[in-house]
Amino acid sequence: MKFFVDTAEVDDIRELQETGLLDGVTTNPSLIAKSGRDFKQVIAEICEIVDGPVSAEVAATDVDGMIAEGEHLAKIATNVVIKIPLTPAGLKACKHFTNKGIKTNVTLCFSANQALLAAKVGATYISPFVGRLDDINLNGMDLIADIRAIYDNYDFDTQILVASIRSINQVTESALIGADVATIPPAIIHKMYNHPLTAKGLEAFVKDWASTGQTIL
Ligand code: E4P
Repeated sequence: MKFFVDTAEVDDIRELQETGLLDGVTTNPSLIAKSGRDFKQVIAEICEIVDGPVSAEVAATDVDGMIAEGEHLAKIATNVVIKIPLTPAGLKACKHFTNKGIKTNVTLCFSANQALLAAKVGATYISPFVGRLDDINLNGMDLIADIRAIYDNYDFDTQILVASIRSINQVTESALIGADVATIPPAIIHKMYNHPLTAKGLEAFVKDWASTGQTIL
């Protein structure tokens, strides 16, 4: 499973890039607003740090506007992926980008039927939002399993990009289901390293090694 980071904070992306774990980045208008920075400048900076796909979301909600903005954003760097909302207009714009060979990430997916529509217009990625479904007492991970089954039934190439991740367990479940990508907030990625037995075990090894008085080099 590929790991994308879900943030518009360039410093966090640079730090994660150095871990060798990062396969791509997703942003959205709320994350850009939170950064307080110029959208296109941020996308250009991220694309210089990361070789993998970097999702940049259109702001327009009409087909022509989404196409114009998406084509503009796609010129920033070759690894820009155009993020489009899952609406009738968004899917028309997606089909346009598919035909032009421009990669797309169809976002704000909350149902299996929506994911089916996105695959039929050739979306590169579908972004089901698991955390926001859990927020309204539905089961986000059930949706991921349903989309996996549907895409496998028909050999759709669209990659399942699990979004709105709020816990490390959702990352595990995504991998168990066979999602293609998880886009994860930086704080959750950092939590994935942790286990109390790792910390406790290392503390004991360091202490016991010191007691031997040996050095390796
Ligand atoms: C994904 O592409 C979205 O930007 C993001 O995962 C949404 O997460 P949220 O529901 O925590 O805002």
